[in-house]
Amino acid sequence: MCGIVGYIGNKDAPVICVEGLKRLEYRGYDSAGIAVVTSRGLDVRKVVGKLANLEALLKEQPLHGPVGIGHTRWATHGKPSVENSHPHISCAGDIAVVHNGIIENYADLRSRLQAEGHEFRSQTDTETIAHLVEKYYDGDLAAAVRRACADLEGSFALGVLHAKHPDILIGARRFSPLVIGIGEGENFIASDMGAVRKWTDRVYVIDDDEMGVLTTDGVDLMDLQGKPIERSVYVIPWPADAAEKGGHRHFMHKEIYEQPMAMRECLRGRLSDPDRPITLDGLNMTEEEIRNLRKVVLSACGTAYHAGLVGRYLIENFARVPAEADLAAELRARDPVVLDNTLAILVSQSGETADTLVALRELKEKGAKIVSVINVVDSSIARESDGVVYIQAGPEIGVASTKAYTLQVLTLQMIAAHFAEVRGVQSPQALREFKEGILCVPDQAAELLSREDAVREVAQAYYQFHNALYLGRGINLPSALEGALKLKEISYIHAEGYSAGEMKHGPIALVEPSLFTVAVAVQGSVYEKMIGNIQEIKAREGPVIGVATDGDDYIPGEADHVLWVPPCPELVSPATVQIPLQLFAYHVADLRGCPIDQPRNLAKTVTVE
Ligand code: G6P
Repeated sequence: MCGIVGYIGNKDAPVICVEGLKRLEYRGYDSAGIAVVTSRGLDVRKVVGKLANLEALLKEQPLHGPVGIGHTRWATHGKPSVENSHPHISCAGDIAVVHNGIIENYADLRSRLQAEGHEFRSQTDTETIAHLVEKYYDGDLAAAVRRACADLEGSFALGVLHAKHPDILIGARRFSPLVIGIGEGENFIASDMGAVRKWTDRVYVIDDDEMGVLTTDGVDLMDLQGKPIERSVYVIPWPADAAEKGGHRHFMHKEIYEQPMAMRECLRGRLSDPDRPITLDGLNMTEEEIRNLRKVVLSACGTAYHAGLVGRYLIENFARVPAEADLAAELRARDPVVLDNTLAILVSQSGETADTLVALRELKEKGAKIVSVINVVDSSIARESDGVVYIQAGPEIGVASTKAYTLQVLTLQMIAAHFAEVRGVQSPQALREFKEGILCVPDQAAELLSREDAVREVAQAYYQFHNALYLGRGINLPSALEGALKLKEISYIHAEGYSAGEMKHGPIALVEPSLFTVAVAVQGSVYEKMIGNIQEIKAREGPVIGVATDGDDYIPGEADHVLWVPPCPELVSPATVQIPLQLFAYHVADLRGCPIDQPRNLAKTVTVE
C-alpha cells in the first residue's frame, strides 16, 4: 500500500517526486524517501514520518537531478526507520529500488543473496530486489530487472534506477498497481493516476507481469519476458485540480462536499426519469441472466463492506434474489459453496484491495459471474470482473471514505432497482417510488450539507467523550456500522456499531452517562422499534443523539440532540443518513485536533492481505 512516483525529464526530479508523493500519502505515511541519479552517482534522502519531514530534510540537504524515484511507506516488513524506508540500495550503491507490495519469498532470497556475499542494511523484503538486480546486472538494466522479477513471489510495483543509466527509469508490476504518465519530453511512473495528473492526463495502465522502460522521449512497454506489448493510452477524465483541497481544510471535508455533484454524475445516463428503465452499461448481464439469478454474494472490506450490506438488503428485499454479504477477508476461509447462476458483486473504491481481489478470484474460480462496483477506472478488480459499474466519484484522497460510500450505495440502489425491473417482482408504483427517491438524493445531500453548522454544534457537546455506541436496524444497520467506523477511524474515540435489536444482548451493559449513543431512527418500518431502544438508553441515563426525519416531533423530546435528515423512502435513506454522520465524525475529530486525512496506522488502499 506504499506509494511510488518516478520521474525522468528536464525538470528537477525531487520536486516532481515530492509533489506526486503528496497525492499518494494516503497510501501510507510512516516514512518517505527519494533517490536521484546525479553526475556523482546515486544520491538518496530518507526520513521517518510524514512527507513534510522529507521536505524539511531536502531544504537542509538539497537534492537535484533530472531522473528520480520517490516513496511513501506503510510498513509491512520492518518497523518504520530510516534504514527500512525506501529507496533501497544495492551493495555497490549504484542501484535504487522503490517498491509497493510484499515479496513472499524474501527470507529465502535474502539468505541466498547473503550466502553469495550481498550485505543487507534493512529488515525489509524490498531490499532483496535491489540486490537481485545487482546480481543479474551485466550492462542491461531492463534485462536485470526482468531476471530479478522472475525470482520474486508475491506482489510488486517497482521503480528502479541505476547510476550508470541516468537516461533510464524502469517500472514493473505484478498485482500492485502501476501507471506510466506520458508527458512531452518527460515521463512518469506512479502508483495511481492522481500522482501524475498535475503534469499529464495521458497514462498507460500497466498490467501484471509487465514493465516499462522510460526515457525522456519515450516509453517502451514489454512483458516480463521482454516481449514488446501494445497498450492504448488512457485519458484521465478528471481535471488536474481534482486531487487538490480546493479551499477546504481537509480532503475529507472537500470530499463530503463533493457528494451532491458526484451523485448527479453517477446517476447521469443511467437513471434520469422514474418512468424509464435504468440502464447500467458496464454491468454486462443479459436480461435472461438477471431473471435466472439464484443468489447474489456481495463481498468487500471496510466502508465498502458496509455499502455491500446495504446492497444485500436491497437485492433481497426489493429485487427478491437471496443475497448475502461477506467480509472479503473471511470469504475464502469458509471455502464458500457457489451455486449455479450466482452473481458475485465486489465493492471497492480503489479496486486494488488485496482481500477483495482474492475473494473475486475465489468466486470466479467457483463459477460465479463477477460484477464489481468500483471507483478507480481500470483498477485490478475492475479488470478481472465480467462487468463493472463505475461509481464515478472522482479521486478520493481522505483515508476515511465518504463520497465513495454514498456513491456505492447509490449504485447498488440502481442495480437493485434494475434487477427488480427486469425480474418483474415489484409493482410499477413501487418501482417508480424507489426511482423517484433515488433521483432526489443529490438535492437532499446538498440540503444536508447546508446544515453543517448544526452538526458541528452537536459535535461540540460530544467531542470529549471516550466511548460511543451507534445503533441501527434493517436497511440502516449498515449506516450505524459505517457511522461508528468513521468516528473511530478519525477521532480515535472507541465506537461500536451494533444492531439495535442486539442491544439487550450485550451493549446495554455499557450504557451510562459517559457513553453516548447515536440512534438512526428515521421514518420507516423499524422506527417504532428504534424509539423503544432510545427509551431504554434514556432510562439508564445514556446520552442519545437521534438521527431523525425532518418534522419528527417525538424524537426531540426523547433524545438529547438530533441530527435531522429530509424525508425519503426507507430503501433510499442510507444514501442520505450517512452525510450528517460523516460531518459529525469530521467535526469531533477536528475539535480533538486529530490528523483527519491521515489517521494513525491506517492507509487508504490496503494492497496486502
Ligand atoms: C481501507 C480504507 C477504507 C476502505 C477499505 C476498503 O481500510 O481505509 O476507507 O473502505 O480499505 O477499500 P476499497 O478501496 O476496497 O474500497
